[in-house]
Amino acid sequence: MSTGPEIDWDALHAKAIELAARAYAPYSNYHVGVAGLVDDGRIVAGCNVENAAYGVTLCAECGMVSQLHAEGGGRLVAVYCVDGRGEALMPCGRCRQLVYENGGPDCLLMTPEGVLPMSEVLPQAFGPDNLTQR
Ligand code: THU
Repeated sequence: MSTGPEIDWDALHAKAIELAARAYAPYSNYHVGVAGLVDDGRIVAGCNVENAAYGVTLCAECGMVSQLHAEGGGRLVAVYCVDGRGEALMPCGRCRQLVYENGGPDCLLMTPEGVLPMSEVLPQAFGPDNLTQR
């Protein structure tokens, strides 16, 4: 049985911390960085980018997913999101949906309680399968 790709969580953590330092968060002063391992081995990453019109703020995960597609796509297999102290941060609801769309139920997420699959982070998720069942 395949054990899946080797996941270097330390490398993802380091990249997420690097990105959190680049966050543009002058309003909340809450820095977020995220890094994701793609199924072809590359790492994509993002930081939050706020806006004077608060609701327009981009979460870090938005940047990560944008890089994923800008570089040609692929599937996320592991994601590590951190706050400004480098502590694991649970993505907001919208961003769990983003990770689910691009990684599916088996994508792994580092959480404050350890590594969990997206199937547990977003149980009974609405996703691409719903639209093909019509
Ligand atoms: N934030 C993220 O970047 N990702 C999340 O999953 C949670 C929230 C950002 C948005 C905003 O800039 C700041 O954290 C405070 O909400």
